[in-house]
Amino acid sequence: MEAKKIAAERAVDYIEDNMVVGLGTGSTAYWAIKKLGLRVKNGLDIRTIATSKESEGLARELGIKLVSFSEIKEIDITIDGADEVDRHYNLIKGGGGALLREKIVAASSKQFIVVVDGSKMVNELGKFPLPVEVVRFAYERTTKKLSDLGCQAILRKSKDKVFITDNGNYIIDCHFDSIKDSKELHKNINMIPGVVDNGLFVNMANRVIVGHSNGIIEEFKV
Ligand code: A5P
Repeated sequence: MEAKKIAAERAVDYIEDNMVVGLGTGSTAYWAIKKLGLRVKNGLDIRTIATSKESEGLARELGIKLVSFSEIKEIDITIDGADEVDRHYNLIKGGGGALLREKIVAASSKQFIVVVDGSKMVNELGKFPLPVEVVRFAYERTTKKLSDLGCQAILRKSKDKVFITDNGNYIIDCHFDSIKDSKELHKNINMIPGVVDNGLFVNMANRVIVGHSNGIIEEFKV
């Protein structure tokens, strides 16, 4: 049983006609978009906003209607994955590099549903390197300032090339190992000039759906 798939598909049960839906990014959100595509084919009437070019492309392929922020007032439900979820349902996101759009979309949503497999549930955030989106200008200085916060800060590369986000920025992956106070760290990182945003999603999730490979699905209302 595909744990990510069953969690993502369960989340799609919350989507109803006439909703505006935020489409997440990554291998778990993929299954939610696929399921939405199937429901749209069967008559579900929704409008969606994507959190990345990748998800936008997939939605378009599946015939799901995409809109821009200028066409909507707010988003009813966003479904997205996460890299880590702690026991207070705070998250690390951005493994796929889409954290900025993901955070804007989640923050514009009445309900933010997080879908993960059991391996993402942790006691404390930080084993997964925290992605930070930074502007290219003076990124060397920004990286140094990030490492001054107590992490090993590494410029993300993909196949030997610097990784560029959908917004034209760089990602610095910050290896903290353990994050004691995610709210404080979030604030301290975003105060550094050059930082656009970071992958800590504190007090944002409204529901967390966890899929397990034995077919069991756990749901936590936050
Ligand atoms: C994309 O930037 C990320 O925030 C993803 O949502 C996160 O990395 C989870 O990805 P998977 O669902 O592929 O594990």
